[in-house]
Amino acid sequence: MSKEKVVLAYSGGLDTSVCVKWLQTEKNLDVICVCGNVGQEETDLEKKRQKALSLGVLDCKVLDLRDEFSDEYLTHAIAANSMYENKYPLLSALSRPLLAAKLVEVAHEYGATYVAHGCTGKGNDQVRFEAGVLALDPDLKVIAPVREWDLKCRPDEVAYAHEHGIPVPEGANDNPYSIDDNLWGRAIECGHMEDPWNEPLDDAWTMTKSPENTPDTPTYVEIGFEAGKPVSIDGEQMKLSELIIKLNKIAGDNGFGRLDLVEDRLVGLKSRECYEVPAALTLLQAHKALEDLTVEGDVLRAKFALEQQWATTVYNGKWFSPLKAALDAFMDETQKFVTGTVRLKFFKGNLTIVGRKSPYSLYDYGLATYDRDTTFDEKSAAGFIYLDTLSLKTWSKVQGPGSGIA
Ligand code: ARG
Repeated sequence: MSKEKVVLAYSGGLDTSVCVKWLQTEKNLDVICVCGNVGQEETDLEKKRQKALSLGVLDCKVLDLRDEFSDEYLTHAIAANSMYENKYPLLSALSRPLLAAKLVEVAHEYGATYVAHGCTGKGNDQVRFEAGVLALDPDLKVIAPVREWDLKCRPDEVAYAHEHGIPVPEGANDNPYSIDDNLWGRAIECGHMEDPWNEPLDDAWTMTKSPENTPDTPTYVEIGFEAGKPVSIDGEQMKLSELIIKLNKIAGDNGFGRLDLVEDRLVGLKSRECYEVPAALTLLQAHKALEDLTVEGDVLRAKFALEQQWATTVYNGKWFSPLKAALDAFMDETQKFVTGTVRLKFFKGNLTIVGRKSPYSLYDYGLATYDRDTTFDEKSAAGFIYLDTLSLKTWSKVQGPGSGIA
């Protein structure tokens, strides 16, 4: 009888390579690996494929997901100005649902009963993978080897790898950090930074220069948007994935995009997280600046509250959910006229928005100028204030400071 099949989210690193052997030996399953290219630094995915094949997997699919990630995931994140707890631009939370969707697709292709991932039981990513998979196919069963096995630390995993003939990269025990990265940036955890009092060491950063070592003159950049989506840099049209790669470099070279945070995980604990998100922060700030110019005020303020909800929903793994779909519908409606150009100035680790323009700008010079000769009828302000303060005046006289009681 042929074995049952499991589709594993495979990064090619130590954890998921050990997962392969563990699923084969402990669970007696045929393993199919899925390795997604979402723009991570480590790009030799063919080598990882060969490594998986050498471990006896049935197949290892390497999928270039950079455009799908940009066009179907990051555009929504930009539209929602997404910042979890108003500070974290959600990079890992955005890639997991896409990878989950691919696991489901491949599971269907191979008639697999199970999907598996290499996440620990303490993080958010396990929730995102599993919620994504189960929302798309509630009949699939999930295995999380790292939550089940007795390998307590990295040296245990290295020992297991040696025992089972899994190639272990040199220095596998030396890297102190846990890294997750994609086009939207890089998350750095563990090591020296587990004490939130410790300043991150220089070797934690790879996408951004230290502001001390950046150019002494500012760099100006213009980002063009169409209906909320970034489409050009300095007038040159390009697809979003390319634009992000280019902007990561420009912003990173100017020392912009480092974050050092304590954030609240879905599983109830606080964690110290460092991030490098040069393009993400740049695009979110530029996009917001263009919205300020083009989106009507009531909509902007209503949107602000829903943006927080969007980010929390996605952080918590509910990418594929009716709430997220409804929030996206709202966001989409707000983006129709977010078209125009934003001018940015990078200098020594800082980003300043120095200009914005749009054919749909709601900024009206005639109304806004402090010159007296304008289209704004200042006399009607008196009537406005009379009515606007009516309830306040009544309150003051009867119950408040004007009542003579207090
Ligand atoms: N704290 C971030 C999040 O929950 C980053 C997680 C990074 N994942 C990792 N496997 N290192 O989205």
